[in-house]
Amino acid sequence: MSGHVIGVLADIPIGEGRAFVVDGRQIAVYRMRDNSLRALDAACPHRGGPLADGLLDAGIVVCPLHGRGYDLGTGAESDGGPPACPHTATADADGTVRVVLGP
Ligand code: FES
Repeated sequence: MSGHVIGVLADIPIGEGRAFVVDGRQIAVYRMRDNSLRALDAACPHRGGPLADGLLDAGIVVCPLHGRGYDLGTGAESDGGPPACPHTATADADGTVRVVLGP
């Protein structure tokens, strides 16, 4: 198995995100309603807002500071602004959560 172990699935409530430090980077990991995971840099590219605290809506996280939306798969900003860096988060069968950092 590859990737950085960051915890277990139960650490992340369904439909929410949590911030983790992975190899010195702050990463927001989200648990979707189907139990799949998504991950983006935790700092909003706009002004550093806490994306782990954003609301999830149809594959997008909405930054709690100024409301910009970021695609949870690609990191693209909804209105074409600077994107959030995407990462890969997965859960093993035993619930261990791993993150592979993106670029
Ligand atoms: S800091 Fe996230 S939208 Fe402004």
